[in-house]
Amino acid sequence: MVEERTPESPPKGLGKKKGRTVEFFDLRGKDAQPPRRVSAIAEFDRVTGGGLVPGSATLVGGDPGIGKSTLMMQVAAALAATHGAVYISGEEAIDQLRLRAHRLGLDDRPVSLAAATSVRDIVSTLDNPSTPDVVVIDSIQCMYVDSLESAPGTVAQVRTSAQELIHLAKRLGFALILVGHVTKEGAIAGPRILEHMVDTVLYFEGDRSHHFRILRAVKNRFGPADEIGVFEMTELGLIEVANPSALFLSEHDEDITGASVFACMEGSRPMLVEIQSLIAGSAQATPRRAVVGWDSGRLAMLMAVLDARCGLALSGFEVYLNIAGGLKIAEPAADLAVAAALISSITGSPVPVETVVFGEVGLSGEVRAVSQLEARLKEAEKLGFTRAIIPALRAKPGLRSTKLATKMQITEINHLENLVSLFPDVNGCPVPIVSKTERAHG
Ligand code: TYD
Ligand code: MG
Repeated sequence: MVEERTPESPPKGLGKKKGRTVEFFDLRGKDAQPPRRVSAIAEFDRVTGGGLVPGSATLVGGDPGIGKSTLMMQVAAALAATHGAVYISGEEAIDQLRLRAHRLGLDDRPVSLAAATSVRDIVSTLDNPSTPDVVVIDSIQCMYVDSLESAPGTVAQVRTSAQELIHLAKRLGFALILVGHVTKEGAIAGPRILEHMVDTVLYFEGDRSHHFRILRAVKNRFGPADEIGVFEMTELGLIEVANPSALFLSEHDEDITGASVFACMEGSRPMLVEIQSLIAGSAQATPRRAVVGWDSGRLAMLMAVLDARCGLALSGFEVYLNIAGGLKIAEPAADLAVAAALISSITGSPVPVETVVFGEVGLSGEVRAVSQLEARLKEAEKLGFTRAIIPALRAKPGLRSTKLATKMQITEINHLENLVSLFPDVNGCPVPIVSKTERAHG
C-alpha cells in the first residue's frame, strides 16, 4: 500500500473565474512534419512505426535483466551516428555504462552519458538551445522529484517524474525514451501506470533461459500496434533477427506426439511456432494445469469445449502446455493448433508431419475463420510445409473466391469434432472418444 496525499479541501467546480480562449487549428499544418529519428536498427525502427517521432515519449518496459539497458545503449549508439543522443542512467555508474558500451563494441560512438536521478537536475541540464534529439532515461523508477516526500519508485514519484520529462520533451522536441521495470509484485509503480501518459509503449519480453527477445509494441500513436521486433541476446549484445519465422520451431525429423505447428501472425509478419503439450494421468483430486506462453483461461475453455462438444474428457488428467522458444502467443487463432497438440497427446498419435494448423474455436466447438489466411499459408509453404489444417473457407458473395493459391494439401475444418476425427483412435487412448452421433443414439 502506498499512501498518496490529497489536498485538504478539494476545489469545488470551476467557480466564476474566466479562462483563456482555446485556439483551434486545421488538420493540415502549414509546416512539414519534422523527420523521424531512424536508428537503422531495422527491428527497432519497425516496432516504433518507422523511427522515433520528435517530441514523443516512448516507454520501454520489461522484466529486470531482460536486456532493456543493452538495447537502449545500442539504440542510442546507432542514433548518435546522425543525431545528438543522450543516455542518462540512474542505476549504473558511468564506468559500468562504459564497460557495457565497450563490450558491445560501441565505445567510439558519440553518445553523451550521464549518471543522474534528480529530475530537476536533468530538466535544467537539457533545457538549453543545444538540446539533444534523443534522450534515454534508464530507468524511470530511479528518478525522483525533490518536491515530493515519497521515495523514488513510488507511484507518485514515477508519475510526476515522467510527467515532467514528457512535458520537457514536448516543449523542446526531443524524442524521449523511458525505461521501466516490470516489478515482480505486479503493476504497482511499474510501467503500467505510465502507459496512458506516453505515446508509444514497447515491451521487451522473452524467457531469460532462451536467447530470443521480442520487442512488442502494445500502444503506438504513430504506427501500428502489435508489431514486433525479434532479437537474439549474444555475448556481443542484441543481434537483429530479420527472418524469425523458423526460429520457434524445434528440430526433430520424426513424428512426435503432443506437438503441433501454429502459423501465427505477429503484427505484419507471419511466424511458425511449435506448440507442445503433455497429458498425463493424475492421482490428485485437482489435476495440475501448467501453461507457458499461452493464456491458461483459454486452455481451460478449449478443454471444456473438447469435453462438452467432442466427448474428449480431459478433466481427470494433468495438462501441460508450452510454446517453444519462450514466445508468448495471444492470438485466438492458436486455438486449433493447441487443440491438435492436446488431441495428439491424449490419443498418442502424432499430428502428420509438415503440417501447420490455425483457427479460432468457439464455445459451441465451431471453428472460425482467422485473418491473413494467405500470408500464413505462404510462410508455411516457404518453410517446406506441405499440409495445412485450417478453418473451412466460406465463399462470401462479392469477396475473393475460395480457391487458394497454394500447392499445400489443405484440410478444411468447421467443427472441432472434425479435428478429433483426423486422429486415428489408437488403442492407447485412455479416454473414450464418443462422437456426437453416437451420443445421440445413446
Ligand atoms: P540489461 O540490459 O542490463 O538488462 P535490463 O536493463 O533489462 O535489466 O541486460 C542484462 C542481461 O543481458 C545480463 O544478464 C547479461 C546479458 N548480456 C548479454 O548476454 N550480452 C551482452 O552483450 C550484454 C551487454 C548483456
Ligand atoms: Mg537496466
